[in-house]
Amino acid sequence: MTTLKTVLPLLALVSVTTSSVLPRWAAPIVKLPYATYQGFHNESSGLDIFLGVRYAASTEGQNRWREAQPPLEQSGDGILNATVFPPQCPQATAGGIISAADYNPLQSEDSEDCLFVNIYAPPNADNLPVLVWIHGGGWDHNSAREFDPTPSINYSNNSFIGVIIQYRLGAFGFLNSPLMKQDKGLNAGITDAAASLRWVQNYINHFGGNKDQVTIWGQSSGGGTILHLLSAQGEKNRENEKLWNNVIMSSPYLTPMGSCNSTYWQTQFDNFTASANCSVDASALDCLRNTSTDVLKTLSHKFDSILGKGHPSAYEPCIEGEGGYLVGNTAERLKNGNIPNSYILAGSNYNDGFSMVSTSLTPPSNITNVSAEADARLANLLITDFPLIQGSEDVQRAIELYPLSDFVDNHARAAELYQDIIFACGVDWTLDKTQDSWRYLYAVKDAIHARDNAYEFPYFYNTLSPYSPTLYGSYIGPIISLIISNSPNNYSNLRPPNDPSYPIYLDMGEYKVLNVTVANISDSYIGQNQQQIGTRERCDFWAQVRIDNYW
Ligand SMILES: *[C@@H]1O[C@H](CO)[C@@H](O)[C@H](O)[C@H]1NC(C)=O
Ligand SMILES: *[C@@H]1O[C@H](CO)[C@@H](O)[C@H](O)[C@H]1NC(C)=O
Ligand SMILES: *[C@@H]1O[C@H](CO)[C@@H](O)[C@H](O)[C@H]1NC(C)=O
Ligand SMILES: *[C@@H]1O[C@H](CO)[C@@H](O)[C@H](O)[C@H]1NC(C)=O
Ligand SMILES: *[C@@H]1O[C@H](CO)[C@@H](O)[C@H](O)[C@H]1NC(C)=O
Ligand SMILES: *[C@@H]1O[C@H](CO)[C@@H](O)[C@H](O)[C@H]1NC(C)=O
Ligand SMILES: *[C@@H]1O[C@H](CO)[C@@H](O)[C@H](O)[C@H]1NC(C)=O
Ligand SMILES: *[C@@H]1O[C@H](CO)[C@@H](O)[C@H](O)[C@H]1NC(C)=O
Ligand SMILES: *[C@@H]1O[C@H](CO)[C@@H](O)[C@H](O)[C@H]1NC(C)=O
Ligand SMILES: *[C@@H]1O[C@H](CO)[C@@H](O)[C@H](O)[C@H]1NC(C)=O
Ligand SMILES: *[C@@H]1O[C@H](CO)[C@@H](O)[C@H](O)[C@H]1NC(C)=O
Ligand SMILES: *[C@@H]1O[C@H](CO)[C@@H](O)[C@H](O)[C@H]1NC(C)=O
Repeated sequence: MTTLKTVLPLLALVSVTTSSVLPRWAAPIVKLPYATYQGFHNESSGLDIFLGVRYAASTEGQNRWREAQPPLEQSGDGILNATVFPPQCPQATAGGIISAADYNPLQSEDSEDCLFVNIYAPPNADNLPVLVWIHGGGWDHNSAREFDPTPSINYSNNSFIGVIIQYRLGAFGFLNSPLMKQDKGLNAGITDAAASLRWVQNYINHFGGNKDQVTIWGQSSGGGTILHLLSAQGEKNRENEKLWNNVIMSSPYLTPMGSCNSTYWQTQFDNFTASANCSVDASALDCLRNTSTDVLKTLSHKFDSILGKGHPSAYEPCIEGEGGYLVGNTAERLKNGNIPNSYILAGSNYNDGFSMVSTSLTPPSNITNVSAEADARLANLLITDFPLIQGSEDVQRAIELYPLSDFVDNHARAAELYQDIIFACGVDWTLDKTQDSWRYLYAVKDAIHARDNAYEFPYFYNTLSPYSPTLYGSYIGPIISLIISNSPNNYSNLRPPNDPSYPIYLDMGEYKVLNVTVANISDSYIGQNQQQIGTRERCDFWAQVRIDNYW
């Protein structure tokens, strides 16, 4: 398909004081049916960049907790600048940078008008493969600005286009109430991601992309979003809507779901409603839509720190039932393979669970019966941080499946259990039912959750992990091969010499380990069935627990 992209000199960027030096770059222009965008050419990276291209209307007011609406037509025939980062979706927390207590939810960078994508395209791109990145951040923070794909596009020799999406977060994306069902407003953060993928299908050709060669990639809650998209798009009524053909998931975050109308979510919604001085009755949603953004931002932040039984974070996807987008239990649908055909490359980190559980799970060593106390503390974790039922057989079985003697201490034991439930087993269930799939384990020390961001988006995250160009090739090379050719192994020239190819994932057997020890920053190894990826026995057990208990 021919691209409608044209190139004009960006004379507007010439500053008066330095006018003797004319910029050598030009500004690419893309005309969409509803707006015309002028991006910029980054001379140093050689890419055409469009920041803040709208894929949906503002989500303020009547569009709150309503599925993303199509972009309104731009009035007049003005050209919109796509040269600065768009506003972020309102953040409920600042992540690791500022403590939650010191966080000011009324940042000027945040706006409910936030459904934008950033696009990074090689100049004169024509029918190139497309990578869509869905960022992580617990469904309550982060935005497109931290995820600049330039290094990987450069590593690919400019052979794909990067699209970085934003989606609603915190209470704006995941405040759950059955009242939202009629406007398809439940799980808005997930349906926003789906809307952005439909936008890619409709418009990416204007930027030189091939809509039939789309790879979606997400990490942490971005990966979790993809697990939910796989589940939702596998529904009978959506079977023919093809939004991607390749999938990459890095440590996908699969929190316990539960029904959107559960007492837990209902109580949270009622409390939120009352805190906004709205009546807790059928008018609640209408009133919340009349409430100012600032009041809601403050409440979104305030409620973020209230965690309840069985819920590791305040804002999580829930099961909608018939008529919704997330009709069924995602764990069950993955386990049964009710997902669209895709080529899938996915993995988790060696220590994904390490920072997610308290070190106080390890009892003091002077206690009379350490193993009994360790079991009691593990059981307590299962019934407070996960919705397991006190005294149930499932609690006993979980304790047996993770014998203390397998681990250095009870914290490591709990960490393994946490990472199986939340990060590793979701990967395994998905790959187990997929014909063309590959698994990795990221074991670059210390391999705690999200350390891999250093090798995905090194501009922003380069301090997270030891930098090694060899490892970069080992990690990103096969990913680029998948993006451009549906297999991580087709382009061995993208990998460092002697880097082993990915074995096809069969029956939880083989996987590629990206293994860099502190002493030896070099390359990768193939491992066999280590517990860090969630053994079959453990993942089968967790699938059954999640199916039986509807989470
Ligand atoms: C242009 O690209 C360079 C190199 O990739 C990068 O450091 C810089 O931040 C980019 N500039 C803009 C305005 O995006
Ligand atoms: C686009 O950006 C340029 C340079 O910052 C500015 O001069 C121009 O007014 C902007 N155009 C619009 C429509 O905002
Ligand atoms: C990079 O792409 C250019 C243009 O398509 C091509 O001429 C060149 O051979 C490629 N280089 C490598 C190393 O693949
Ligand atoms: C990738 O970056 C290097 C170093 O900046 C540069 O020399 C090379 O031309 C870039 N490759 C492409 C395809 O732009
Ligand atoms: C209701 O929300 C407030 C914060 O606004 C919190 O302090 C309180 O614990 C919540 N109550 C319930 C029952 O969730
Ligand atoms: C709710 O009403 C009370 C009493 O009038 C007031 O103090 C409080 O600031 C109001 N809260 C919000 C979020 O408007
Ligand atoms: C919301 O605002 C509209 C228009 O201002 C008004 O008609 C409606 O009664 C309000 N609803 C609630 C529940 O406050
Ligand atoms: C709650 O949602 C479930 C689907 O998750 C549905 O089967 C059930 O009927 C709903 N109950 C009510 C009271 O709406
Ligand atoms: C165990 O040691 C801690 C200090 O390390 C002490 O506070 C505690 O009383 C001791 N408990 C027993 C049962 O000796
Ligand atoms: C410690 O507790 C376990 C489990 O309750 C029990 O089987 C074991 O006999 C106890 N050991 C001692 C030394 O009391
Ligand atoms: C990629 O590899 C697969 C086998 O894994 C093969 O079927 C396919 O044709 C290859 N595609 C390209 C573009 O090389
Ligand atoms: C990583 O490599 C080291 C050294 O070769 C080896 O001892 C260790 O078992 C490997 N770890 C994994 C997870 O493969």
